[in-house]
Amino acid sequence: MRTQVGIVGAGPAGLLLSHLLHLRGIDSVVLEARSREYVEQRVRAGVLEQGTVDVLNEAGVGERMSAEGLPHHGIELRYGGAGHRIPFERLVPGRAITVYGQQEVVKDLIARRLADGGKILFDVPDVVPHSLEADPYLTFQGERLDCDIIAGCDGFHGVCRPSIPDGVLSIFQRDYPFAWLGILAQVPPSAEELIYSRGDRGFALHSMRSPEISRFYLQVPPDASLDDWPDERIWAELRARLETVPGFALTEGPIISRDLSAMRSFVAEPMRYGRLYLAGDAAHIVPPTGAKGLNLAVADVRVLTEALAGLYATGSTELLDAYSATCLKRVWRAQHFSWWMTTLLHTFDTDDPYGRRLQTSHLDYVTSSEAAATTLAENYVGLPFDFGAPRD
Ligand code: APR
Ligand code: PHB
Repeated sequence: MRTQVGIVGAGPAGLLLSHLLHLRGIDSVVLEARSREYVEQRVRAGVLEQGTVDVLNEAGVGERMSAEGLPHHGIELRYGGAGHRIPFERLVPGRAITVYGQQEVVKDLIARRLADGGKILFDVPDVVPHSLEADPYLTFQGERLDCDIIAGCDGFHGVCRPSIPDGVLSIFQRDYPFAWLGILAQVPPSAEELIYSRGDRGFALHSMRSPEISRFYLQVPPDASLDDWPDERIWAELRARLETVPGFALTEGPIISRDLSAMRSFVAEPMRYGRLYLAGDAAHIVPPTGAKGLNLAVADVRVLTEALAGLYATGSTELLDAYSATCLKRVWRAQHFSWWMTTLLHTFDTDDPYGRRLQTSHLDYVTSSEAAATTLAENYVGLPFDFGAPRD
């Protein structure tokens, strides 16, 4: 088999890349380790930046997102017995976020690729990348896929990044001493907007998927097990961490799914080796507090598409050669923002009273200063794609 771009992984990065390349007349094949059902049902985050929404709409895959996604024009920071709204409409006019589950984006992209005759091979767990310096190819299940370029879109635990020879990549990382327990509940949201709540019992987040489905997260110990968290304990802890302002009552109901996620910051540089280009979680991970993971994946494949379109139109590798540096500007901004939101809102075992006071002081600053609130708002809704260019 031969294709122009061999894509490993059918997450948001691999699927969107395949679709954007198709729109530019570039052929690709996607190889995915898991089943279609698995990738469509996997519950992940659900906050889309304005730029992500624009990319999906411009690519013609935003129809269901426009109909079912929930536009949000602010978030609440809750601490010290009070809630403080960060109003995007005033601080970053014209920019908002859309709450729409990542697995819905994945479903929409798979449906569109298949309708367009795209090739996605599911249940292919044994992909191996070869000959990354020149004439690259992928092997799987006794088959060989030759390609011009390999796109490693296979997430943090994928096979592409580890196939790069030792000593090539520089790794930057930070682990956090807690995890997030996430639940989906068959219950209307308890408030109209997302609530990021910081308190002495740990962080909690109120989010949603639809007018009927709520999404919640709790900061839990890093070695927590789902068995430790029966429904009643989850609701009791959510009440204790979220019912901290007068008049707020949590609406409870059946829990329909639960998951645990590690909290990690990670960057591999450069995001390229020879003919292999890494995109999305394969190259970088952020803790979910800033809601940036999916949005970074979309930004990467947008850059990669332009670079490949340049290659096939003119033969020039200029944009491809700049791919890693171009992406890393945005990646590091999101790394900082995600680390900052995480350290601002969680409790740490090592918290000394001094550190806790600093956290409170910073929260007071963000919720009272227009300049500080604007910094949070513009990062949260997402910086423009040309971020990093000098200001006039
Ligand atoms: N071979 C083929 N496919 C693989 C392999 C492999 N060896 N290893 C992993 N995969 C697949 C996974 O099953 C998954 O479907 O690659 C896909 C990677 O998808 P994601 O993990 O969703 O990563 P990405 O597309 O970069 O999207 C980033 O996902 O994890 C969230 O928070 C993150 O929202 C962000 C987004
Ligand atoms: C979610 O709804 O899944 C969600 C929202 C905000 C975050 C992380 C996850 O920061």
